[in-house]
Amino acid sequence: MMQTIGNSSIEITPVAMGCWPIAGMTSIDVNDEDSLRTLQEAYQSGINFFDTAYCYGANGQSEKLICRALSRYRDQIAIATKCGIHWNEQGVRQINGRPEKIKQEFSESLQRLQTGVVELLYHHAPDPDVPVVESAAAFREILDSGRAKTIGVSNYSVSQMNEFATVCPISAVQPHYNMLQREIEGELLPWVQTRGISVMCYWPLMKGLLAGHLPRDHQFDPRDGRRKYPMFQGEEWQKNQDFMDELRAIALDIEKTVSQIVINWTIHRPGITSALCGAKRPAQIKESAGGMGWKLDAQQLQSIDAAIRSRGPIVSASAV
Ligand SMILES: NC(=O)c1ccc[n+]([C@@H]2O[C@H](COP(=O)([O-])OP(=O)(O)OC[C@H]3O[C@@H](n4cnc5c(N)ncnc54)[C@H](OP(=O)(O)O)[C@@H]3O)[C@@H](O)[C@H]2O)c1
Repeated sequence: MMQTIGNSSIEITPVAMGCWPIAGMTSIDVNDEDSLRTLQEAYQSGINFFDTAYCYGANGQSEKLICRALSRYRDQIAIATKCGIHWNEQGVRQINGRPEKIKQEFSESLQRLQTGVVELLYHHAPDPDVPVVESAAAFREILDSGRAKTIGVSNYSVSQMNEFATVCPISAVQPHYNMLQREIEGELLPWVQTRGISVMCYWPLMKGLLAGHLPRDHQFDPRDGRRKYPMFQGEEWQKNQDFMDELRAIALDIEKTVSQIVINWTIHRPGITSALCGAKRPAQIKESAGGMGWKLDAQQLQSIDAAIRSRGPIVSASAV
């Protein structure tokens, strides 16, 4: 059941906790007490892999919460963080891949996490104003210093990964991937699979849609950051709800929840190493952890694949 990060010996669970929601930037009604309990519940439910970033929170709230909740288990968990995106004083997201900025952000991340080393450090997104090889040199320096055990990239194209890899070895990539957003199956997955690179996918629950708890008549709070995505609006929303109805019937039949069959399907797809499941409440991550440790059978997979085919691809979106 355990996986490794690339060709390293670092063992991780196929379900990770995605620590963006606890930063409280787009998720609503987030508070420290629930966030700390959610992180602890993840660990108690068997998850050992935590995904965060320098920019998860204007001042690194997500990394600080991980430290507060889990430092006593530090030698039993794997932490992945990312550098290369920050928020400016006006609260506007900035991409900066200059080597000095990456090294400064990573030093701050280590301080927030109160740790001397992370298991995985990603370049969060390529900076169009900085050659990939220049950013890669900063990651190579960090890798050589031993403060990150492995290096990954996120939101990179295959050609950008090829460039990065000429300077710094890549152990993991982090693209979005879920039942309805499968673009990486075309070029990226075949590329990583021949190189022993791990794929840690974000949005496995499609920002909560595929968790199955949002009813057809759900009214999004005006503060809810998800309202901006086409998948939560108009005709797309109705089509997605038709799809959810099919998944709800399959889940009921096998006595699992919708999110558990979605996660189980995801982590058993060829090339997928771990699904980064966001959560802000303990019950959510406990449910997601129940998506690992078993396997959908051939008939269940057939029913799910038929439902996916009849839904068809969605109007896609990316985080950066
Ligand atoms: N590299 C990148 O650029 C990038 C970009 C995006 C995300 N990520 C990473 O990937 C992780 C996953 O992405 P995500 O958190 O945006 O989306 P996600 O995992 O697809 O969805 C998470 C959301 O689903 C809802 N949810 C989860 N479990 C649930 C349950 N059992 N019942 C009901 N609702 C449930 C929660 O939303 P509500 O409670 O608000 O309904 C939760 O915030 C992030 O946390 C982050 O670590 C990386």
